[in-house]
Amino acid sequence: MGRVGPLILCCALAVGLVAAANPAAYAAPGRFSPGAPGAGDPYFPDMGNGGYDVGHYDIRLAFNPSTKAITATTTITARATQDLSRFDLDFQGPLTISRLSIDGRGAAYTRGGAQELVITPPDGLRKGRTFTVSVSYAGVPRKIDDPALGVSGWVATTDGAVALNQPIGAATYYPVNDTPNDKATYTQTVTVPRGLTVLANGEPGPVTTRGGQTTYRWHMNRPMASELSMIAIGDYDVTRGVTADGLQNITAIGRSIDTKPGQGKVLNQTTAQIIHWESTAYGRYPFDSTGGILADVGVHYALETQSRPVYDHKTSDVDGDLLAHELGHQWFGDSLTPTRWADIWLNEGFATYSEWLYQEKFNGTPVQQSFAEAYAGEEDWSGKVADPGRDHIFDDLVYTRGALTLQALRTTIGDDAFLRLLTLWPTTYRYGNVSTQTFIQFVERLTHRDLDGFFHTWLYQPGKPKL
Ligand code: TRP
Ligand code: ZN
Repeated sequence: MGRVGPLILCCALAVGLVAAANPAAYAAPGRFSPGAPGAGDPYFPDMGNGGYDVGHYDIRLAFNPSTKAITATTTITARATQDLSRFDLDFQGPLTISRLSIDGRGAAYTRGGAQELVITPPDGLRKGRTFTVSVSYAGVPRKIDDPALGVSGWVATTDGAVALNQPIGAATYYPVNDTPNDKATYTQTVTVPRGLTVLANGEPGPVTTRGGQTTYRWHMNRPMASELSMIAIGDYDVTRGVTADGLQNITAIGRSIDTKPGQGKVLNQTTAQIIHWESTAYGRYPFDSTGGILADVGVHYALETQSRPVYDHKTSDVDGDLLAHELGHQWFGDSLTPTRWADIWLNEGFATYSEWLYQEKFNGTPVQQSFAEAYAGEEDWSGKVADPGRDHIFDDLVYTRGALTLQALRTTIGDDAFLRLLTLWPTTYRYGNVSTQTFIQFVERLTHRDLDGFFHTWLYQPGKPKL
């Protein structure tokens, strides 16, 4: 019998006694109820789930490059946030499950919809209780190719695979509470044929080889949203360094990429330089290591995967602008993560603003000039920046008008308040979830000004704002 068994029995008894005196209490045993099948984001109603809070993901996965298949066991440590009769995880087909257990006991499950894995524990899980769910599964993961949002999830490449999960890819290769509001720590243990390299978020653990298979271990010890978790398997040239602040800096370039000699060092050193500079502007770097991966993924975007962004070789050149953008996201997007996808301008606006700051610092182009050029050149003024719609979260509107808003704010509140904001905002909400409303209140408190009109014009009103 599991640990929760006797507890429920004794409580049911106690409830029974109370119920004898109070008929209304008969309903009480039924209060173990299912967790919600979605986390409530209007753009992605199926994503995430309710009723529990994940603390840690332990992903152990073996990859076979000749079949492209994975064999994996993911163990999730979570805490019930309500008396739970059952709960969902997000997990996509076509992966098949061979075993599922809760605290080591086999548990019943069904799979339905696009990605709901519905798990019924042998006994209800009382609110506050910590439990582990372990899922063993195998198959060839299928990436997501969304008509509006592009490719995400597990992407097979010529030399291995790269997993990029923003916004809806994580469930293509592990069972997950796929919402930015349930951050957790991660260990990722990936076994591949000897000769291949594996990179992931955070810091490396021991690498061991046995019987022609090499196992890599990576730990992310700071809270991470599932959309920012990452695995890269392939033939990589790895460069290790240390930043001026003493951070471990691990960068990698796919060997299939035709790079100039010394490019590995350049990527490593530019990353270190930008992380150091951004730390002076945004406050202490939120994670325990940094780096970056240049890979031939074919998704046509770069992604701010936590602590170690991935730069698709199919995007434009990996120049300082792009590094400043993805590394800027470490503060804005990764450490501070919007509660709702509608507020993604809080990521992309600040990341684009990071490019403008970079241009000013390293190329001598004043931020105000970048602002003026973007203001004059921007063609899309039609949508709402702080609620662009599900299919438009990666639109230019969000990026450019997001950054324009920040520079217009700077002009309104002055350099001094704005530069303080650049450190205070990410420091105050470090590792947390934020919203546009939180941001507006934060700025208003900092400046003792009513800025509702300003923010309404820039963030919610379609049309080109007057200067
Ligand atoms: N969020 C990424 C960045 O700004 C870019 C990105 C992720 C993207 N997925 C996308 C861009 C899909 C276009 C389409 O760094
Ligand atoms: Zn971005």
